[in-house]
Amino acid sequence: MKWYSISVFMIFALFQSLSAAPAVSLSGTVTKSGGGAVKDVTVTLAGVGGISATTDASGKFTLDNGLTSIMPSAQTQPLTFHLNGKELFIQSAEKELSGTVSIYSSEGKRVSSVDFKQTNGASGAILLPALSAGLNLLKITTNGRTYTGPLLQLPNQSARLQGTSSTSMSNQLGLFRSTAAMADAIVDTLITKKSGFTDKRTPISSYISSNLSITMDSIVMATCNATTLKAAGSCRSNHQILLGTALPASNLPALAAQEFNFVTPENEMKWDAVEGSEGNFSFGSADNIVSWAQQNNMKIKGHCLVWHNQLPSWVSSITTRDRLLAVMKKHIETVMGHFGSKLAAWDVVNESISTDSDVGTGNAQMRPSVFYKLLGEDFIPTAFKYARDYADSHNMQSMKLYYNDYSIDADNDKSRFLHTKIKQWLAAGAPIDGIGFQMHIGPPNNIPTVQSVKDNMDYYTSLGLDVLISEWDINLCGSKVTSAQQLEFFHGITSVCVNNPKCTAITFWGVNDGNSWLNGFSGSLCNGSSSQSLLFNNGQKKPTYTEVLNGLNGK
Ligand code: G3I
Repeated sequence: MKWYSISVFMIFALFQSLSAAPAVSLSGTVTKSGGGAVKDVTVTLAGVGGISATTDASGKFTLDNGLTSIMPSAQTQPLTFHLNGKELFIQSAEKELSGTVSIYSSEGKRVSSVDFKQTNGASGAILLPALSAGLNLLKITTNGRTYTGPLLQLPNQSARLQGTSSTSMSNQLGLFRSTAAMADAIVDTLITKKSGFTDKRTPISSYISSNLSITMDSIVMATCNATTLKAAGSCRSNHQILLGTALPASNLPALAAQEFNFVTPENEMKWDAVEGSEGNFSFGSADNIVSWAQQNNMKIKGHCLVWHNQLPSWVSSITTRDRLLAVMKKHIETVMGHFGSKLAAWDVVNESISTDSDVGTGNAQMRPSVFYKLLGEDFIPTAFKYARDYADSHNMQSMKLYYNDYSIDADNDKSRFLHTKIKQWLAAGAPIDGIGFQMHIGPPNNIPTVQSVKDNMDYYTSLGLDVLISEWDINLCGSKVTSAQQLEFFHGITSVCVNNPKCTAITFWGVNDGNSWLNGFSGSLCNGSSSQSLLFNNGQKKPTYTEVLNGLNGK
């Protein structure tokens, strides 16, 4: 077979609508859990742009793009595809073949779309982007027909695909995971949204169906009367918010275990702490925090795998791309491997964007760290991929992987730059589960508005990502923020998280004011005095605590 003998058009058209959209005729009913039709729900398809509907008073909707499906004749030959690394080859009995190859994540999110054209029945290499780990969905739209099938990022994979939505697979390597069997039934994802309800994503197995039944969960806005932060964060059955704090191994107060159910080690898992010299790993202090958190039934987020700061000089002085890649991979895998599933999540990449000022304005760009200088911005999708692959192949499929940064919580140059980058990295297949808004408010960082935090959070969660408030404190030093504003922020931003179903955690950067990093940081304007930035002072609850508790309780 002459794979390379054919002329090929390869046009990468990320997030572009399919050139040959499938015929869609979907109808059904949306009800709420517990019963009752839901009116005014917006219904859209993830994979086919431009078609949407709204439910009527009976909860009914119809999605129809007016196209008629061209069914393949009995003589129609199946397509055969062969994947060799990132190169996809398509063969068909038909001489002229053109269309679009799209790759979807198993949740139905299109991550790439490539047009192709061939003569003589076989394509040349169609170069695919890095696929997300695990299962992906391959969709080939050509000459009025749609072929779908599961696609795994294997070194080598071949299969035969039957036209329309039915798929026949022959897996020559026998390497598919058990979930793969389900995937040939999924062609797209139906997204249903209505304010007051949790967004719902329903996989569908055909574009032609008249009896879809979708149940949506209403967000329980009823007020709660919880008396600890962690109980208040857990008081809604369909929207659980973890309440966290950063802790140093040297100070693990009982108060933290009473109020919080989530811990981030403040410094103990950073590169300089765990791999100060190459290949010599030490985890003693971090292990102390982990076992203390486990004894107190608290979840743990690892912080952080790839960061320009607290990075030993043996890493920052590396000069070649291959060596840095190998070092980064080994660090990620060794550190993740040590803690394993004792951790629930990792900040995989921290603070990779810079601006002229730490408040997030002026000249937003990729930070010129050793990672960026040697690897380009690809170091970010690559780091996430190393982490995801390691987690998935070591029985840690539920491990959440986050991008974390400061002054990105509201509209400014830095957050706009990050919006663009995150979309590109997701399109390149970066397995990012969520974004950590550090939410250090006041000097040296930005001072947002509550509305701007809400809009920015909506932006990221509408991309399908989780959002966390990951390092919250509000600095009063320098009087840039008044005490009254501080209380408003603590209440208002907590409420923003409560009202966004994909805001999954709120972590404060310390328990007591006296231990805040701000007190001794030169840019904080504190000059050694207390930043008064947290919820407790000497173990006593402050008015800031009450504002957060009330916000969590929906009051
Ligand atoms: O461990 C040394 C100790 O041996 C030495 O005696 C002492 C003398 O100053 O310094 C100790 O290291 C300090 C380290 O914290 C541990 O206490 C460093 O000087 C100090 O710079 C370091 O500060 C940490 C800072 O990150 C470093 O970038 C803060 O505790 C920590 O709260 C802060 O956390 C960061 C997040 O990781 C990322 N987002 C911003 C946030 C606040 O800056």
